[in-house]
Amino acid sequence: MNPLGVSFCGSRLRNPTVLASGILGITFNQLKRAEDGGAGAVTTKSIGPEERVGNRNPTCVALQHGMLNAMGLPSPGYEAMDDEWRQLKKMKVPVFASIYGASVEDFRRVAAYVAEKKPALIELNVSCPNTAEHGQVFGFEPSVAASVVETVKEVSGRVPVSVKLTPNTYKIVAVARACEEAGADAICAINTVAGMAINIEARKPVLSFKKGGYSGPAIKPIAIRCVYDIYEAVKIPILGVGGVTTGRDAIEMMQAGATAVGIGSGVYYRGPNVFGLVAEEMRCWMHANGVASAKSLIGAAHD
Ligand code: SIN
Repeated sequence: MNPLGVSFCGSRLRNPTVLASGILGITFNQLKRAEDGGAGAVTTKSIGPEERVGNRNPTCVALQHGMLNAMGLPSPGYEAMDDEWRQLKKMKVPVFASIYGASVEDFRRVAAYVAEKKPALIELNVSCPNTAEHGQVFGFEPSVAASVVETVKEVSGRVPVSVKLTPNTYKIVAVARACEEAGADAICAINTVAGMAINIEARKPVLSFKKGGYSGPAIKPIAIRCVYDIYEAVKIPILGVGGVTTGRDAIEMMQAGATAVGIGSGVYYRGPNVFGLVAEEMRCWMHANGVASAKSLIGAAHD
């Protein structure tokens, strides 16, 4: 038996690490780097209803304790992705397809197309802080998030649906609960934390979009708290994301309640082999601490 293996919404993962959405893009060659680096599953960059170039540079900056980005959801648009889907069939690990829209109807359209391509899961990005018209607005209100889930579930067939939640609301637990009630099969928590950096010599925001989403080690305690609280409120599995760069971080996230662990900025800090490194560090810790299976770590920190 593989002690690191976990099941997530019907997919068997060789280890709990998952490439988080938005880090290595959408193409086969980009996602293959995470598979080769040891990831248990990979998530595409969010796919949108039409072509979108995203925000002007600078869109990403490394700060002292994390990364600040405002990419602005660049996407080729779902209809331009047929060739890429054919290539993605060659992936050996499960592929999670992240999607976004500017309206509930957009989500329906993109989800209907993507579901036909049979990804292992559709992840609804209702939480991007980096555009005026998409994103967080859907994730702020339980009823609005639930309406996106309900609509997507009408067209997603047998493909499980997960919802990526924003920490930029005090209602994250209520949103998670509403999504579960609306039929979501999983929760992904968390997307980036709203942030900003200013170049004091230039007297200007560093990012062209001015504000952005903060990720990396500094947000791990925020993510751990969100996952811990969501785990107590829902029964569906959680993909825990936020600041995981080491095996110890991944174990902490699972003990908080995550079934699998997303890694995003960790790719910047440790390279695309971060997934294999984290898995190996988990294996060593489990061995040293007499833990027989990664599955037994899930929610272990709860009373
Ligand atoms: C972006 O494209 O701006 C980041 C995506 C996200 O935070 O959801």
